[in-house]
Amino acid sequence: MIPAQIIEEIRSKAEIVKIVSEYVPLRKRGKNYLGLCPFHPEKDPSFTVSPDKQLFHCFGCNEGGNVFAFIMKIENVGFAEAVEELGAKLGIAVPKPAGAGPTRTEKDKHYQVMQLAASFFRNNLSEPAQAYLDRRAITEKTKELFRLGFAPAGWDNLFNHLIARGVPPVLIERCGLALPRENKNGYYDRFRSRLIFPIVDQRDRVVAFGGRSLGDEEPKYLNSPDTLIYHKGETVFGLNLCKDHIKKSKTAVLVEGYFDLITPFQNGILNIVASLGTALTVAQCKLLSRYCENIVLAFDADSAGWIAAEKSADLLHNQGLTVKVARLKGGKDPDEVIRNQGSEAFKQCLNTALPLIEFKISRILSRHNLQEIESRARALREVAAVLSQEKDPFIQQEYVKLAAPLMKCDADALLAEIKRQQNSRQQWPGNLRRVTEKPSDKIAEAEKNLIALAAQNNEALKLLKEELVAEDFKLRETRAIADLLLAADFGSEAAPAHFLLENLPDEEAKKFLSGLLMSEHLSQGEKMETIIADCVKVIKGERLRAKIDDLKLEIKEAEKAGETGRVAELLSALKGEIS
Ligand code: UTP
Ligand code: MN
Repeated sequence: MIPAQIIEEIRSKAEIVKIVSEYVPLRKRGKNYLGLCPFHPEKDPSFTVSPDKQLFHCFGCNEGGNVFAFIMKIENVGFAEAVEELGAKLGIAVPKPAGAGPTRTEKDKHYQVMQLAASFFRNNLSEPAQAYLDRRAITEKTKELFRLGFAPAGWDNLFNHLIARGVPPVLIERCGLALPRENKNGYYDRFRSRLIFPIVDQRDRVVAFGGRSLGDEEPKYLNSPDTLIYHKGETVFGLNLCKDHIKKSKTAVLVEGYFDLITPFQNGILNIVASLGTALTVAQCKLLSRYCENIVLAFDADSAGWIAAEKSADLLHNQGLTVKVARLKGGKDPDEVIRNQGSEAFKQCLNTALPLIEFKISRILSRHNLQEIESRARALREVAAVLSQEKDPFIQQEYVKLAAPLMKCDADALLAEIKRQQNSRQQWPGNLRRVTEKPSDKIAEAEKNLIALAAQNNEALKLLKEELVAEDFKLRETRAIADLLLAADFGSEAAPAHFLLENLPDEEAKKFLSGLLMSEHLSQGEKMETIIADCVKVIKGERLRAKIDDLKLEIKEAEKAGETGRVAELLSALKGEIS
């Protein structure tokens, strides 16, 4: 356990607006700050950060909590790691908890070994790798920034280097740097005679390597396998160097290869990331959507590249990103375009990138023979399918005007097909309107008010404790909160809210609480004592009503059973409750 006062110190020194701003652009709106939620795709900001309450809450996806919860969620780490990371940011030392879970130290060891390996490769960047990089016009500064290195020829250079530094062989293997020999005796290096690109995560840690052969040896690129600290589908290349530029411009250029990132970067295109040639994953899209709103795809100018672009574009679009697709001219990939035509030519390709819909239309048209009526009919249906997804009627209409002549058809014909598709879709049960939620009743409102007040104010909590017990709360979430809130003993100074957010056992209750704390649903100006008294009255009234109902039921049953003594007893109890 990390000492409570250290957690408290970090929480009180961390400025939630500042911390969140490192990941999400925020704008001031009244007392709060507002931005696009990093945890779900959205076009209109519902992600709210309150500097007064030191809380965040998204009214779209209901994610919320304090600064620790934010770091846990966005960095995908546990509570202790979040505390540690914030401590490091604020210069507050967090003692390593004794008997901490093995994963943390195990991960640390991996990072250390990868760092040792990166330094080894870097120090070995000599001929012939230097000559190779010179041929590809990579400068000294770029080599330094990207920590480019070389894995020398030979079977065990890196392995021996690491062993000499006390790294156990199994760990070298688990880091993906060595493989066991066939005869099970000893290991050999995975990367040999290859130019080395370290893959560095957004927190500046080396997590994997890519190695390019200098000649024609296959495979052209060899990559680290997945390890404890590296998950290929969750990582993008270049984020460590480019994330600030991406945030500032709200736009990321997404390319496929190592050199497709490095060459443009060297030429001043600094908001760029690479997916490294595999199919883009949802996790990668989510990662990118934390940093930007717009993506310009600059994939290879061949059919494989276009198909990859189509798939990736849809995936990115579904994460709420605005996607454009660049058409490369003068080279097959960004690296070639720049080497053949210069960086201005590449920038021109980026600036004239097609909006997603236009790109999709052009892809559909390229697949059909527009001389043939039947083909044109198929193209029309496919284009209509794309356009019927567009909700903005103006945008839809403009694309109809643009696409119809390209298909040699009337705008009306295209519009009619769009309407037809939209109508047939509307009959799907999935599109039925949601049932209206039942109005929250008086008791629920009272429970919420009491929890909101007592969580933020020790005086209110004291009053509440005098009047009610946890069992009086009937909503699942308020009950979970009340269980903790009414049992714990808080010092006079700290408000219980953060304690609750950090200790509630139930994820739903946490979200419920942060939403409650962030929505100003209590009437302003009214005295706290009055609100509490009113709410307590509602709840006590309910408790009484429930008790009377129970008694009436029991009386009926006792009468049925002919237990006259019991009936008399219950009747007097009932009288007692009513008076
Ligand atoms: P490309 O084949 O387009 O190579 O693969 P490239 O990036 O243009 O490489 P250069 O310019 O010839 O050096 C694109 C990306 O796919 C991954 C790499 O990340 C590469 O940058 N790839 C490619 C592999 O992982 N393994 C391979 O064998 C080939
Ligand atoms: Mn290339």
